[in-house]
Amino acid sequence: MAIERTLSIIKPDAVAKNVIGQIVSRFEGAGLKVVAARLTQLSRAEAEGFYAVHAARPFFKDLVDFMISGPVFVQVLEGENAILTNRDLMGATDPKKAEKGTIRADFAESIDANAVHGSDAAETAANEIAYFFPALNVYSR
Ligand code: TYD
Repeated sequence: MAIERTLSIIKPDAVAKNVIGQIVSRFEGAGLKVVAARLTQLSRAEAEGFYAVHAARPFFKDLVDFMISGPVFVQVLEGENAILTNRDLMGATDPKKAEKGTIRADFAESIDANAVHGSDAAETAANEIAYFFPALNVYSR
């Protein structure tokens, strides 16, 4: 198994619910390590840039409005199969469809306020980590 890094965002709904610690505990419990993190308020331009791949989707404006509605906790997680491990911990995009015990099933209200973001593949992980943590060396462990 490969040691990977992935980008995780605890979104404004979960930060507002005061569950940053509970969510980070789940990552740590699954063997993922926080190697970079910051609590930040995204600007509209930062949120639009991050979700640029969805720019043509009907939910784009609502998604950006939501992502800038309050602070987010952005972090880089490292561990064996970190990308898939994180996606498994998160659960499906729509919390109503997310498996029991996943972060979204337990903490999210709706598909548009769904508690967490996690990179979905190696290439997106590298791009998303560089987007928020340009000084973090991808190869230094
Ligand atoms: P997506 O990349 O499909 O999901 P995931 O976050 O699980 O990788 O979508 C990005 C975000 O866009 C998603 O977390 C919430 C929002 N979104 C909506 O608001 N409505 C939708 O119908 C979809 C598919 C996504």
